[in-house]
Amino acid sequence: MSPGAESVARVENDDAALSLYHLLDPAVLANPYPLFHRLRREDPVHWDPFLHAWVVTRYADVLEVLHTFAADRTPTPEQLASMGLAQMAPLAQLMVKQMLFMDASAHTRLRGLASQAFTPARIETLRAHIQEIVEDLLDAVQGRGSMDVITDLAEPLPAIVTAEMLGLPVEDRHRLKAWSANFAEMLGNFQHNPDHAARMLQTVEEMTAYFRDAVQETKRHPREGLIHSLLSAEIDGDRLTEEEVVANTIITMVGGQETTTNLIGNGVLTLLRHPEQMKKLRGDSSLTASAVEEMLRFESPSQHTARLAPTDRSLGGKQIRKRQAVIAVMAAANRDPERFPEPDRFDVTRADNRHLAFGYAAHFCFGAPLARMEGQIAFAALLRRFENIQLVPQDLVWRTNLGLRGLTSLKVNFEVSESASRPVQENNPR
Ligand code: HEM
Repeated sequence: MSPGAESVARVENDDAALSLYHLLDPAVLANPYPLFHRLRREDPVHWDPFLHAWVVTRYADVLEVLHTFAADRTPTPEQLASMGLAQMAPLAQLMVKQMLFMDASAHTRLRGLASQAFTPARIETLRAHIQEIVEDLLDAVQGRGSMDVITDLAEPLPAIVTAEMLGLPVEDRHRLKAWSANFAEMLGNFQHNPDHAARMLQTVEEMTAYFRDAVQETKRHPREGLIHSLLSAEIDGDRLTEEEVVANTIITMVGGQETTTNLIGNGVLTLLRHPEQMKKLRGDSSLTASAVEEMLRFESPSQHTARLAPTDRSLGGKQIRKRQAVIAVMAAANRDPERFPEPDRFDVTRADNRHLAFGYAAHFCFGAPLARMEGQIAFAALLRRFENIQLVPQDLVWRTNLGLRGLTSLKVNFEVSESASRPVQENNPR
């Protein structure tokens, strides 16, 4: 082998070693942080030839990408056709109307109208009701002394809250959940999976038809909720079209469920793995808010997102060409030692914790106040009602969704604590 060939082989090996494709390996998926640390140390702005994208892992660079790169990344019908994916056009037609995939000024307009419908005051009115839902879910498992945190709490809580927040019948939540999981799988994974295309298209068709009906029903019989608010939102005479309401209700439904489920599941697992931190939190409920922030930093439910370079430009000393794809790994940025001292230490009292779990800048999570509220209420209630929470011996299986990090199941045993009763609430007739 010539010296040149040797160095080419080494570069290829390094590229292979650093590829995010390793997340397909269950052992790496179970603990992706060594891979993220290696990427950040060895090649923080890394060209991943397998993904055909730049992978960015330093906190400062992830901020830069989220702040200045383009979110408008939905392929046009022509691009899909050239990739042999013309049949995916209905999905692209939906995505181009969703705020997550838009840049200013289209994004500013849409987000402005949607924000009118989702004010902090409106979210605050949900607090007592979310508390009630959590208590009901815990009532259902209390007598058993065991629960699957995912199926008994982490999935149903956001599913019920999302249905109610949108103004949809709660009985529909199972359907909404199934569509949401399918859609999120497409959002979270790097590449088109031909095996899932038919299911994805069916999901888009069914979901769109369902929400078009819901819009008509809401117009006929106005019902409190986000669909109604989006239909009525108006700025200087400008309103959302019905198709925009449908598309953005769908992205809100997906955003609201998958990630919040993972916040609760990942958070419980992290507490179980750090019993001294669980004890600290149990002993001082005023730490609930900072503990939830630390869970979001430490095991970020949404691990990365994608952008396109808006122009030819340099980042971290690398030249990125216009329209090249960039994967901003928030979960790696959230463990950057340049930003967070001892980043691999889980500390429920961490004070300086401006993590990127909800993203940054224009696309900063629309539902962050609601997600925080759900997380805080769920953890406070769980620790108030149950003690001696123990992991049941089991193989932990992580969802194969590479972007949205969460467990498929998390079985625990517990004892009912003496203070297991519901808190007395104002405005709550129970
Ligand atoms: C722990 C829970 C959550 C996490 C970790 C999370 C994470 C994120 C992240 C990282 C982004 C930005 C993505 C990007 O820049 O590409 C985002 C955007 C968004 N999230 Fe969340 N999210 C959560 C809960 C929610 C909830 C409860 C809702 C709905 C009520 C929601 C709705 C949205 C929407 C609509 C966007 C798009 C905002 C825009 O493009 O302007 N999310 N979320």
